[in-house]
Amino acid sequence: MSEAPVLSVESRARIDREVRKYPEDQRQSAVMSALAVVQAEHGHLTNELMDAVAAYLGMPSIAVYEVATFYTMYDLQPVGRHKLCVCTNLPCALSGANEAAEHLKSRLGIDWNQTTADGAITLKEGECFGACGDAPVIVQNNRKMLIEMTPAKIDELLAELSR
Ligand code: FES
Repeated sequence: MSEAPVLSVESRARIDREVRKYPEDQRQSAVMSALAVVQAEHGHLTNELMDAVAAYLGMPSIAVYEVATFYTMYDLQPVGRHKLCVCTNLPCALSGANEAAEHLKSRLGIDWNQTTADGAITLKEGECFGACGDAPVIVQNNRKMLIEMTPAKIDELLAELSR
């Protein structure tokens, strides 16, 4: 296995825990967890970090890039303290997602993939989060699902995030 000095001891220990969940010859199955671990430590994923994950898991870098660029939970650029990912897929779009997105953009003065000047909020466009019945759906910081996000609820959220 190649050395991956760019990964911290702590990250490697956490990745090792994920790797142990799979058969010995399937280290690459832990790639999503490994990327999440490294992103949590560094804030976003650089090519150097993704290459290090690839080397550590014994897989081609391109395969790691494919995963990191496919899922909106991974950030390839720095993001604000709060990342709001708005689902704009059809079921949500039919239930107010576009209005929610426009309201957010207008309130924050930013567009998709931009961060407010104070570094507080990054706005991203997301794919279906599997909660279509509760549209519009926003996922906050990859962890918290916010449902039925009408403009009024978005105003409440922004007030909460500004405290
Ligand atoms: S389409 Fe938005 S959560 Fe499914």
